[in-house]
Amino acid sequence: MDNFSSLVNDLIDATRKHEQYRDKECINMIASEGLKSPAVNQMLCFSHDLACRYAEGENDIAGHVKKRYYQGQKYMSQIENHATDIMKSLFKSDWADVRLVSGTHANLATFKGLSLASKNNKMVVTPLSCGAHISHDYTGLAGNILGLDNINHVYNIDEFNIDPDKSAYVIRAAKPGIVTFGGSLFLFPHPVKELKEVCNEVGAYVAYDASHVLGLIAGGQFQDPLREGADFITSSTHKTFPGPQGGVVMGSPTTPALEKAVKKIQFAIFPLSASSTHLGRLPALGIAALEMKIFGADLAKQIVKNAQTAGQYLYENGVKVLAEKKGFTRSHQIAVDIRSYGGGNKIAQTLEDANIILNKNLLPYDNQSSKEDPSGLRIGFQDITRRGMKESDIKHLCDLMLDVIKEKRKPAQVKEDVLLLKKEFCGVKYGFQNVEEALNCLNKA
Ligand SMILES: Cc1ncc(COP(=O)(O)O)c(C=O)c1O
Repeated sequence: MDNFSSLVNDLIDATRKHEQYRDKECINMIASEGLKSPAVNQMLCFSHDLACRYAEGENDIAGHVKKRYYQGQKYMSQIENHATDIMKSLFKSDWADVRLVSGTHANLATFKGLSLASKNNKMVVTPLSCGAHISHDYTGLAGNILGLDNINHVYNIDEFNIDPDKSAYVIRAAKPGIVTFGGSLFLFPHPVKELKEVCNEVGAYVAYDASHVLGLIAGGQFQDPLREGADFITSSTHKTFPGPQGGVVMGSPTTPALEKAVKKIQFAIFPLSASSTHLGRLPALGIAALEMKIFGADLAKQIVKNAQTAGQYLYENGVKVLAEKKGFTRSHQIAVDIRSYGGGNKIAQTLEDANIILNKNLLPYDNQSSKEDPSGLRIGFQDITRRGMKESDIKHLCDLMLDVIKEKRKPAQVKEDVLLLKKEFCGVKYGFQNVEEALNCLNKA
């Protein structure tokens, strides 16, 4: 085999091994990952031609296709319109754009569009150290690509949240064009309601990054940003919302200022930042939305319950889970200070040696340059909940984690129990097993 052939061979081999490892043998607790149902995966296979096609052009103020520059769009425009309307209906918005290929892309288009609409380059954001995503920050997309000036919300570490009173002062003083909420380390609902009035006062658009919590919002848990005052939700479609990897922006352009914002965001999508919008994912997005409509409330409730159960159980067993006074979390994730057991880097690695996958994480009070060995772990419960785990299973899993963390048993020994547990929870609940099942469900409705 020449070198090129062996590279392709190795690529396929590594892919097979990955599928076996992460899908069949590991307990997955990375808070930013989603778990697609068999029906969503099947729908992706059914739309393989669509996944080759291009659809460049403009959309109208309802989010529907207005103009396309290529031929062959007869059904593609319908597909995009239907996917758009499904998301609008699920999240009760008058406008949506599903052309974004990721959450970062949704932020790029929205921040760019809103800064154009407001003619203002200042954006108030949660500090990166307190859970904002890098795309919100001046060191990432917002600053380095879009040239926005970041001004930080005031963050209360004890409350694990934005301080609404102090942030109101900041917003009044800075007079930004955009105020953002939402984040990656995201335990409690952000004070959108509390800060909406001051945002109006200074004429700032409110953007809420729901990437982590979109599935919880669909299930009626956590918070309802669009009803609380967010002008726009930006999001990935593949974290707690268990769709194919992609992005979405939603809002209701009920005033001339919001209408202007939508037009600028659309301009920032096409022609500014997208050519192919990767349409092959849209039918699968629709199936995931249907699953959220039908199973979302039960799934979201159980995800939060499981996260809280783990928080309480680990805390009672000597692990410093943050925000204990507030019940640890109201989302799908918990944050743990693991310094007394060796730090985030060591523990994340030893847990992986036992086939439990989560990520080390900087905590708000960490030296932010110690990314390689932060104090914390961030643990997500959306995947294992969808696999069917309930509170007693969560406690069993926590026991296995505690064995590793406290070095009661070697990771390789714990791994044997993890493999058994995974065998028990290898299916996907709160969803459809195939597209036929989804269609039958629709026919019964
Ligand atoms: C809050 C938040 N926004 C945006 C993103 C980026 O999403 P994507 O990976 O879809 O670009 C992430 C990623 O985890 C995130 O946590």
